[in-house]
Amino acid sequence: MRFSCRHFKLAVPPTIVANSNPTNVLAALKEGMAQLRVAQIPAHTLATELLLMHALGRDRAWIYSHAEESVDPATAERFLALIARRATGEPVQYLIGKQEFWGLEFEVTPAVLIPRPETEHLMEVALARLGERGIKIHMDTGAPREKLQVADVGTGSGCLAVALAWELPHAEVFATDISAPALEVARRNAARHGVVERIHFLQCDLLSSLAYADPSNLGARHSVPASGQDVSHFDLIVSNPPYIARNDAALLEREVRDHEPHSALFGGPTGIEMYQRLIDQARDLLRDRGILVLELGFDSAEHVRKLFDARHGWTNVAITMDLAGIPRVLAAELAR
Ligand SMILES: C[S@@+](CC[C@H](N)C(=O)[O-])C[C@H]1O[C@@H](n2cnc3c(N)ncnc32)[C@H](O)[C@@H]1O
Repeated sequence: MRFSCRHFKLAVPPTIVANSNPTNVLAALKEGMAQLRVAQIPAHTLATELLLMHALGRDRAWIYSHAEESVDPATAERFLALIARRATGEPVQYLIGKQEFWGLEFEVTPAVLIPRPETEHLMEVALARLGERGIKIHMDTGAPREKLQVADVGTGSGCLAVALAWELPHAEVFATDISAPALEVARRNAARHGVVERIHFLQCDLLSSLAYADPSNLGARHSVPASGQDVSHFDLIVSNPPYIARNDAALLEREVRDHEPHSALFGGPTGIEMYQRLIDQARDLLRDRGILVLELGFDSAEHVRKLFDARHGWTNVAITMDLAGIPRVLAAELAR
């Protein structure tokens, strides 16, 4: 996820004077764009289009080819209500209830972080690392092979867990989150994409419920493994953890700060606290040559890299930049 750190520029929101309800598609588009422009909403044209598409239940091509089509008063009112909510900062994705990630459509509610395009780099790195050792992805299922054990820590909407399950048909995925409402959304997304049978959803702190060799034990929360039990059975662990420093809250865009769940955003006083615990837990759970892939917060790459100590078995530590040239993903492997 990327959270551009700039203050919201508008100290006093300008008054929005609503005209009478638009009566056709073109008038609705113009009215929505005008209101969002006055409210200084970024990408106001796209936002208007998406909200009108949602209100009408039509796609963009239909809207632009039916500019003169009449809009009934109830739909116009519903559309203007959405515009008003967007004008006060609610993200479009929460208003329309969906966001695309990795080519798949995900339900999003205010209980979950809106999946970010940057997080797709994490998918790319994870699949590339698996690919290096001949583990094939979706299009080439080939002969039956040993089940791959994958975990997604802090699953939120389930975007990573679902996309990985979708790409890796022989994977069994364990998706954890501290938030029960988030896990409900993730479960619905898994069902929507036909992978719910292969994903276990667990409400727990990071990886604490996964310290079991036997997945049938996974109902228990916050338990510790019996002494001597081998718990290192994961081939791949991924996470986009909360990584914003508490003190940076004021720097966030209001869309993020005022509407996305704080448990998904803030990772402690400095923002890297969550990484330390996560890396320690992952070390117990990864099997030999197991892979850990983490999304990085702004400016956190060097701090996080230092947590991967070769004395603890970490090898092949590499950082991947996102399209903006920001270090975005760290991948490492464990040698046992
Ligand atoms: C940055 S969001 C990532 C969501 C999703 N994986 C994505 O990439 O869009 C972090 C997620 O971690 C969850 N979380 C926060 N603290 C946690 C903890 N201690 N243990 C497990 N999950 C946690 C939040 O509820 C949130 O869903």
